[in-house]
This record gives sequence, structure tokens and C-alpha cells, in this order.
Amino acid sequence: MAVMTLHARPAMKSAEQIVKEDLDFIVRQAGDEFARLSGHDILIAGGAGFLGYYLVQAPLHWNRVNAGLPPIRVTVLDNFIRGVPAWLTALEGDTNLRLLTHDITNPLPAALGDMKFLIHGASIASPIYYRKYPIETMDANVNGLRFMLEYCLTQKKRGKPVEAVLFYSSSEIYGDPTPENIPTPETYRGNVSCTGPRACYDESKRYGETLCVNFARQHALPVKVARPFNNYGPGLKITDGRVIPDFARNILDGKDIVMLSDGSAKRTFCYVADAVAGYYKVLVKGRPGEAYNVGVEVPEISVTELAARAVALGRELFGYAGQVVRQESADKDYMVDNPYRRCPIITKARTDLGFDPQVTIDEGLKRSLLWYAGNREASEA
Ligand SMILES: NC(=O)c1ccc[n+]([C@@H]2O[C@H](COP(=O)([O-])OP(=O)(O)OC[C@H]3O[C@@H](n4cnc5c(N)ncnc54)[C@H](O)[C@@H]3O)[C@@H](O)[C@H]2O)c1
Repeated sequence: MAVMTLHARPAMKSAEQIVKEDLDFIVRQAGDEFARLSGHDILIAGGAGFLGYYLVQAPLHWNRVNAGLPPIRVTVLDNFIRGVPAWLTALEGDTNLRLLTHDITNPLPAALGDMKFLIHGASIASPIYYRKYPIETMDANVNGLRFMLEYCLTQKKRGKPVEAVLFYSSSEIYGDPTPENIPTPETYRGNVSCTGPRACYDESKRYGETLCVNFARQHALPVKVARPFNNYGPGLKITDGRVIPDFARNILDGKDIVMLSDGSAKRTFCYVADAVAGYYKVLVKGRPGEAYNVGVEVPEISVTELAARAVALGRELFGYAGQVVRQESADKDYMVDNPYRRCPIITKARTDLGFDPQVTIDEGLKRSLLWYAGNREASEA
């Protein structure tokens, strides 16, 4: 099929509209939590990445919406290994935003100052990349987390205690759950290889959780853990190698959608605006030393079905005429230890934190495709 560049039909929403609506939504969904952050400093480690896109923009948006209240001051710490993303550069004039170039595998910089809230999301998260950089992935989740927790301990001893720390674990800590453990509650202990190609990620997240639990218990630190289940949407680079941006790239290039597996693996996909509201809830309201699933329970769909939905939306939005084709991945480890099904039970976050995801898969995919239509430049990253 010939390569061409597709554009959204004129009546469709722009990427900017999508982002503005999403930020309004997050600020509404986590209104109490942002009010709690008002007047404080928050550190977002890994803030230049996918989840950082809304994690960073949402509090700054809250500041604009609540101009009369003390602002939330945001510090983004990242090694910016792929450069400072354009969206962060565009925010540089915001006096409530500070960027720190730092590798989390070293002690936190003295210039950091007194943070009240901290988020650790600095880790390679895409399977394609963490299999390429396994040691760096482990170091970020284990040593990097340790340095952050040591900072919190020091702050406590200095009489400047932090209010909350959030560690990003992953649904991958469950590995490939046995059928009776799907959908999966937080109490499931997992079925994980400690030596397979994904182990650098899964096991370092597991050890990270153990660190969190023990710092919470032994030092009474307010450390909380989120276990994200397949987030997608604005901010996720089109080159990231995860399935939805791959499909979006094929659609926008007017090429067939290439499926590198047999398409039978099943997932639930959580739109990032829902997820980010959930993460702020875990940070502020989560119980110290506890983990929360953050995702959606339905629909659990196969990758084949996801591709079919993407094709249908591509047709509706851009007049896409491609189809789904199968191809073997050149990467022999592409599917090794890949969980066959992944689907959470989110009762704990729903009941204890008021987490209430709203965005359907079709709406989320549509919003993502429209965002990608306005953000293709990431394909050069
Ligand atoms: N997106 C998801 O669906 C998902 C699912 C499960 C877990 N998570 C976890 O959430 C967190 C954020 O995920 P994401 O999707 O935004 O990932 P991402 O790869 O898009 O972003 C991670 C950011 O961390 C930075 N980083 C990596 N190593 C670093 C280091 N040593 N020092 C400083 N900065 C470093 C990168 O430069 C990048 O900006 C990660 O911990 C990830 O493991 C995400």
C-alpha cells in the first residue's frame, strides 16, 4: 500500500482541544487532591515521559483555573536522555515549573530543596527499550527509588517531613496470572520469571514495592504504590513501541496496521486522563505501605479487536483505507513471558480513594488518534 499522510476531517477536534478537555477533566476528577497540593512543592521524577505529560500539566492547569489560591510548584527531574520534549520547553515560562536534569540513579541533588510531595516515575517503561537497557532499568527502579526514600528520611530528621511519596510499580509485578487470578486483585502474589527477558522490569518493580513497604513500616514514611494497567493516550510518543502508538503511526501514514503477534493476548486499556486522576488520588489519599491497581476493568479486549477498533476509527476520522496484516517480529523475545491476559480489579482504589474512570475505549482511542494527528513530529524522536 502506498505511503501517504492522512489528516483529520475539518470538523474534528484539534490536539490542543483534546489536551485542554483532558486537563479540565483531570482537575475536576482530582479536585480535592490538587487542593491538598496547593501551596506546596511537588517533585515529579521522570516527568518528561508519557505519564509526565499530564502529571506535570495538570497541576499547572489547576493553578491557572484557581488563580486566587496558593499555586502548586512543580519540579520535573529527568535525565532528558531523549532531549527536553517540546511540550515542556513550551511551559518553561511558567514560574511554578522548574526543570532539573539529573539521573535518578544518583543521590538527589542538593539544589532540590524541600519537597512536600514526590513521585517516582523515572524508569524505562516500554518493553522494547527496557529489554535493550535492562541494567539501567533495574538501577532506576531500585537504586533510584532508594535515593528518593533516603531523601525523605533525611527530610524527616531535619524536621521537614514529606507529606507523601508515590512509587510507580506496574501490573507487570503480577507476571502472567493464572486464569483463576484474572481479573487480578492487589492480593495476588504473581507468576513472574526472575531470569526471563522482562525480568529486569518486573523484578525491579517488585523489589521497589518491597522497599516502599519497609520504609513505610520501619521509618513511618508515607510511601504509596500505584500499579498501572496499560495506560495510553496523549503524551505517549508515536515511536514508543507500545501497541496503540504503533497502530496510530500506521493509520496516520496510510499504511496497513502491522500486527507482530497472533493478536489473541487480551488487555484492558486505561485512558491516561482517567489514570492520572487516579495517581493523584493514590499519592494524596493512599495508605502508606499499600499498593493500588490503577486501570479499568472492562472491556477486556484482544489485540486483534483493538486493531479492528482502531481501523474503524481511522476510517471515521481520517478516511483511512488500510487493513490489519500479520507479520513476524524480528525480535525473538517480542512475546517471551508476555502476559496472555491482563485485567485488574480496581475495587480498592474505587472504594478507598474515589477513583472513578470514565473514558470508554472508543472515546479514548478516538482522542488518542486525534492527538497523534497533531503530534506526529515525535516520530523523529
Ligand atoms: N504507561 C504505562 O502504562 C505504565 C504501566 C506500568 C508502569 N508504568 C510506570 O510508570 C512510570 C512512568 O511511565 P511512562 O509510561 O511515563 O514512561 P516513559 O518511558 O514515557 O517516561 C519515563 C521518564 O523517565 C525518565 N528516566 C528514565 N530513567 C531515568 C533515570 N535513570 N533518571 C532520570 N530520569 C529517567 C525518562 O527520560 C522518561 O522521561 C514508570 O515507572 C513506568 O514503569 C507505566
